[in-house]
Formats: sequence, structure tokens, C-alpha cells
Amino acid sequence: MTILNNIALEIISDGKGILAADESTATMTKRLDSVGVSSTSENRLAFRNILFSSESMRKCIGGVILYEETIRQSYNSKRIPEIISNMGSHIGIKVDTGAKTLAGSPHEKITEGLDGLRERLKEYYNLGAKFTKWRGVYIISQKYPTKLSMKSNAHALARYAAIVQECKMVPIVEPEVLMDGSHSANECLEKTSEVIKECFSELMLHNVDLSGLILKPNMVLAGSDSGDKISSDEVAKLTLECLKNSVPKEVPGIAFLSGGQSEVEATENLNLINKYNNTKFIMTYSYGRALQQSALKYWSNNVEDTKGTQKIFNHRAEMNTLAAQGKWSKDIETAQ
Ligand code: G3H
Repeated sequence: MTILNNIALEIISDGKGILAADESTATMTKRLDSVGVSSTSENRLAFRNILFSSESMRKCIGGVILYEETIRQSYNSKRIPEIISNMGSHIGIKVDTGAKTLAGSPHEKITEGLDGLRERLKEYYNLGAKFTKWRGVYIISQKYPTKLSMKSNAHALARYAAIVQECKMVPIVEPEVLMDGSHSANECLEKTSEVIKECFSELMLHNVDLSGLILKPNMVLAGSDSGDKISSDEVAKLTLECLKNSVPKEVPGIAFLSGGQSEVEATENLNLINKYNNTKFIMTYSYGRALQQSALKYWSNNVEDTKGTQKIFNHRAEMNTLAAQGKWSKDIETAQ
């Protein structure tokens, strides 16, 4: 087993998942604005530190993805990476610099951040990072994503992953086909499969060790404007079909993004994916909104109540850890 494979497995085994706390300052400002909290560096840190110090970190969260700002911050004189590793969780860092307009297809995006990446990675490694994240984003409709978007984003993801492994960290490869739009679930299945296949073709071309990465895809869903919401059962079956046909068997695990699903939806879908999982891939979560939303809402009205906020976060993390083992149920969800 390689060192990278070992780290990947430590992050995602035994029902553990990933807390995606890597919202850029602009995205975090939107999240805080939505609950009426001003987005100062102190407020961003205060909320995130509450999550990182929660009890569920020990048994549920194998890794936390941080944003550039957070990896350098300290709380009560303790460095954030130290707080997280004391809870037994690995430190991750978002290393792309965001999705920009794709020249040649201006409705689509290309993720940037390759220039100077090797140097930044060395610094993150010295700050304690063991894994990294890069997100490629794809819109979907009859004509999208274009070949240009698929090829250019896959190329960037592969170059990123190769440099990250060279720097002895595990790359999370995140191709996200957005939920926005009126497409059907079958269209999402078809396009997501194509996007993932293109990524692996580039990853192999760049000699990336597939056993030392984690794939972070979207689940297969009908578009949010399609008016055609499919059942969790169908989501699970279509998602498994997609991954079975497009992910090479060397990959140790898949950690889904939540992508705008509600908290319980994201848990229920993950649970059924695991109930039906007849592959060797570990299937877990790498959720941002679906882990934090309720905790953030509660905290915004009760900023002094650390324990109350942690209780809500712990519940979500525990529910998702059960789902990552196919052991979640609606009764357990509502029992507490
Ligand atoms: O890149 C996206 C985040 O890491 C996951 O966020 O679960 O809210 O989609 P989400």
C-alpha cells in the first residue's frame, strides 16, 4: 500500500467523511449574509472553530478541507491545523483559485490556479496539509458541457493532481456537474459519466497514481428546474451506474459533494447508495452545505451557544456517518 493510498483510506474509511469548510471568502460571505451575520474574518473563524472542536470530529470526520485564510488562523493561540489534527482528522486545503470564464465558450467555466501551485503546495504541506482539493465546474443542458469545457477542465484537474502527488499529498479530484437547469436525471447520468471518463483519461495520461486520490463527484439528479424530482432510490441506482461505468477500479473511494441538496436528502441518498453499493469503492460524503446549514442558522441567532451549535453539527455528522455505512434510517434521524 502506498503512503498516499494509506492517507486516502484514513480519511474515508469506517464511515468517516469529509467536512468541506473551504468556502472562499466570497462564498462564505454569501452564506453568512443569508443568516444576517457580517462576514468578518473573526466571525468566519468563530463559526468554523466551533465545528472543528465538535465531538463528532473524532469519530465521523476523517478530513477537513480548509480555505487559504483558515489554514493560517489561530484560535485562542492554537493553530487551526493543530486543533483539527488533535481531533484525529487530516488537514486538507482547497488549492484552486476559482472558476473563471472559459475563453472560446463564455457561458462555461475553467478552473484556474496552476501557476505557482508547486510552491504553494510546499507551504501548505509545511502547515500540516495531507490532502488538497480542486473543483472543476460544468453547466448542463442539451449543448453543455462542451467538449472544450470537458477537455480543458480535465486537463487542469490532472495537472493539479500530478503536482499534488509529487508534493506527497492526496488530491481530491472534484468534477461537479451542477444541479441547476431543466435536464432530466438520465441526461445528468450521461453527461456526468462523460465528464468523469474524460477526467480519468487525463489523470492516466499524467501518470497520476489512481490509488492515491479521492474522487468528489455530484450525485446523479434531475435538474433543479426540471419539475421532475426523482426518488432517492433512483438517485442511488443511477449514481452507482454512472460510477461503475466511469471510475477505474484502482480508485479507493468516492466522497460526494452535496451540491444544493437539503441536509436530509443528501443523507438519505448517500445511505441508499451504500445499501446498493456492489462495487469495491468506499462511498462517503464531502459535504459543505449539507453538514453546516442548520448549525450555521442556529449559531446566527445564538452566537454564544457553542454547545447548542455543536449538538446540531454533531447530529448531521453522525447521520452522514451512518449513511456512509448504509445504516441510516428516518427513525434514527428523528429519534433525538
Ligand atoms: O466544492 C464544493 C464543496 O467542497 C462542497 O460543497 O457540499 O455545499 O456542494 P457542497
